[in-house]
Amino acid sequence: MSHAEDNSSTRRDFLYYATGGVGAVTVGAAVWPLVNQMNPSADVQAASQLRVDVSGVMEGTQLTVLFLGKPIFVRRRTADEIEAARAVAVEDLVDPIARNPNLDGDQPATDINRTLAGADGENTEEWLVMQGVCTHLGCVPLGDGAGDFGGWFCPCHGSHYDTAGRIRRGPAPENLHIPTAAFVDESTILLG
Ligand code: FES
Repeated sequence: MSHAEDNSSTRRDFLYYATGGVGAVTVGAAVWPLVNQMNPSADVQAASQLRVDVSGVMEGTQLTVLFLGKPIFVRRRTADEIEAARAVAVEDLVDPIARNPNLDGDQPATDINRTLAGADGENTEEWLVMQGVCTHLGCVPLGDGAGDFGGWFCPCHGSHYDTAGRIRRGPAPENLHIPTAAFVDESTILLG
């Protein structure tokens, strides 16, 4: 082996070990956040919850808040909107699942299963809280009676949602998803 070849071999060995060393550091760094996520501190837990004051939300209007990077629609529905949503049979829906993590398992997408009960446990079917994210490709649908079913309309590719946020026509495969939410008093909703 010439002197030149010997040098280049030594350099290759050095590069190999150096790369191996970087790899080891990267693995160490990757493990820490995973472990850390298993023990969320109080401030991390607080950041994953949001209290929303809905005292100013009048019937027939919608409040939009940003939660964990996603818009959340909080709508106080009119009697007509509730009646229209109740009149639809689950069998006629594109997506028959409620998409409501506040209920056990995959409940049917009846109107009442899509809505939020009050702090007293009574459900007037007035409050609809949903992620404002189209289940097709993630655009934010237009509200306030938009679309052919009087609920929300996603103009990106034409998905129509009804007054319970259920997909009725267009390419979206699922009803608008409902976040984890509950009334903690008569005018405050806790998200997360
Ligand atoms: S993203 Fe809403 S219809 Fe395509």
